[in-house]
Amino acid sequence: MKSGNLAKQYKDYVINLRREFHMHPEASWDEVRTSGRVKEELTKMGIPFKEMANTGVMAIIKGKNEGKTVALRADMDALQVKEQNEVPYCSKNEGIMHACGHDGHTAMLLGAAKILNEMKDNIKGTVRLIFQPAEEMAQGANAMVEAGCMDGVDEVFGIHLWSDLEHGKVSVEAGPRMASADMFKIKVKGKGGHGSLPHQGIDAVVTASSIVMDLQSIVSREISPLEPAVVSVGVLKSGTRFNVISSEAVLEGTTRCFSPEIRKRFPKMMERIIKNTAESYRAEAELEYTLGTPPTINEVASSNRAIKTVEKLYGPDAVSLMEKVTGGEDFAVYLEKAPGAIAFVGVRNEEKGSCYPHHHERFNIDEDALETGTALYAQYAIDFLND
Ligand code: NI
Repeated sequence: MKSGNLAKQYKDYVINLRREFHMHPEASWDEVRTSGRVKEELTKMGIPFKEMANTGVMAIIKGKNEGKTVALRADMDALQVKEQNEVPYCSKNEGIMHACGHDGHTAMLLGAAKILNEMKDNIKGTVRLIFQPAEEMAQGANAMVEAGCMDGVDEVFGIHLWSDLEHGKVSVEAGPRMASADMFKIKVKGKGGHGSLPHQGIDAVVTASSIVMDLQSIVSREISPLEPAVVSVGVLKSGTRFNVISSEAVLEGTTRCFSPEIRKRFPKMMERIIKNTAESYRAEAELEYTLGTPPTINEVASSNRAIKTVEKLYGPDAVSLMEKVTGGEDFAVYLEKAPGAIAFVGVRNEEKGSCYPHHHERFNIDEDALETGTALYAQYAIDFLND
């Protein structure tokens, strides 16, 4: 239970760091100050690290005895959100805000670094600490993996502070936990004309509208009703004037699902509908499908281990069951390289005003949860390596 005691001891250290990161948020790929501070703290602790993927950092803590390697991951980037919280540690970077809790993730992993470094004589194996950039753009994990951060890693563990979960609770069940998040763009080509003479043109607005509607049949008619999936069109741009038949339209949207098989089928299903719908209106359409993040699926053994770790640290009542979420998380990219799990650590506390959703301008966390997350990071690594 030593990591729990140490997490208590370093509680203020982690809270202060989190507030500092909160005050100086940086957008994706721009985490220069944040990663600089991470390196500074690691240097103070005497922990060696490598810079990778631009602003990314990978630190290495070697235990006294040889053994397996476990990677712990935190993300460092903030969002283009204008903070509306009135707190002393409010964002000083106008228009950028840590509205997803990544400030807490980075601070907790530094807290865990302190704990693991102090306990390294009792550790059998190696802990890698991954501080990644650009999670919000679903690019950072890919870049870190390409730079080699997962080479030789046997297990990976991540944490997301979670606003839908009460403080003191941790959810880390097995199976799909977060959805895949891919992007698409559709270009419709018609033929312009006078609004009063539609038969002389090929209407891109009508074609595009029909495509939006027909795409919904993928979820309602083509995918099993037992499989959650989403096709959302968020952008539809077309037209120049009320009485002109539009010759072009552009649609943009996202797909979500929890099954790698369905994810693979999406581009083909969409392509078929888009092409045929366009053809039925005498128009042409093209699909550009961009892969974002795979679904995040917790390994059974990793999930069971994490549940035991939580119970050991905070008792069986701390383990909570939570429905999976349709948001995406590029932690999934690490899970393609090694088994592992992501845990949701509850930060919701109505009394402290931390009850707004992620990405909201008043998003905040119950900072007591930082101690939970810090201990969980460290203890999970120890439990995996020493088991
Ligand atoms: Ni996030």
